[in-house]
Amino acid sequence: MTTKTFLVIGGTGKTGRRVVSQLRARGESVRAASRHGEQRFDWSDESTWDAALDGVHGVYVTPLDGSTAAPRFFERAATAGVERVVLLSARGVDVPGYYGDGDVESMLANETALRASGPQWTILRPGWFAQNFSEGIFRAGILAGELRQAAGEGAASFVDTGDIAAVGVAAVTEDGHAGEVYELSGPRAVTFEEATAEIGAATGKPVKYVALPPAEFVEELAGQGWSEADAGMWTAGLSPIARGLEAKISDGVRRALGRDATDFSVFVKNAEAENAWG
Ligand SMILES: NC(=O)c1ccc[n+]([C@@H]2O[C@H](COP(=O)([O-])OP(=O)(O)OC[C@H]3O[C@@H](n4cnc5c(N)ncnc54)[C@H](OP(=O)(O)O)[C@@H]3O)[C@@H](O)[C@H]2O)c1
Repeated sequence: MTTKTFLVIGGTGKTGRRVVSQLRARGESVRAASRHGEQRFDWSDESTWDAALDGVHGVYVTPLDGSTAAPRFFERAATAGVERVVLLSARGVDVPGYYGDGDVESMLANETALRASGPQWTILRPGWFAQNFSEGIFRAGILAGELRQAAGEGAASFVDTGDIAAVGVAAVTEDGHAGEVYELSGPRAVTFEEATAEIGAATGKPVKYVALPPAEFVEELAGQGWSEADAGMWTAGLSPIARGLEAKISDGVRRALGRDATDFSVFVKNAEAENAWG
């Protein structure tokens, strides 16, 4: 039996590193690729792509938001003989106006290019990640005891990145997922007030959520050194939560894995057990 090799682009990220560990737990051969990963891969340096793709059976792709490189990468993967590609996209990219004035054109272009590229493909469209609270951009606010965001009073069905990874692993290793678009969420919508209260109860350090008007939030981010473009994109990303759209419960985890998605309380318990909030 020949061993298959899998390439994980963004292998150090919130979903990618879990894809790497879940594939390794199944005994697969894996290349964890990124600028600082085991396999050097840079979206903005095409000379790093072919070595990463050499001899690879399946690829899990974390794209770079705003970059137009992924469509060329999909062509390169097809030429290299890759048989399966799983693309991390986002919920709502196909719905005009979902992100307000946020530009998600490159994400939709990635999906379109992947479908046309040749290898079997699967697209993952997750909602907001639960791990933003433990590993991502909300973590600093949790540690400071005050999380300031422009998400209004809206709720989001935060999805555990372990579930996204599990769907990615199934899609890249097993039959039955080709041509599927899996919209992924957790099983329950929680507001930021509920999420921060739950995390505060678990850590023993209360966290207050402050809902900022979008313009004020953009100004605050600019004051912290964010570029105007990044601040605008982040605020636009939050707008579906503020408008109630991210409360939707999606069925992708059940469709792909035949089990329920991980609840936000389980995420909090696991993150606290891993000492995510120190
Ligand atoms: N966060 C959410 O709630 C959420 C929700 C839905 C969809 N998404 C989508 O999921 C994707 C990942 O989101 P994330 O922000 O949470 O990031 P992430 O997965 O935590 O990290 C991004 C990964 O990309 C790598 N990377 C960054 N720049 C790179 C470059 N120039 N070349 C190669 N690799 C690079 C990073 O590793 P190195 O630093 O080592 O290069 C890291 O492994 C985005 O497309 C986002 O739109 C996110």
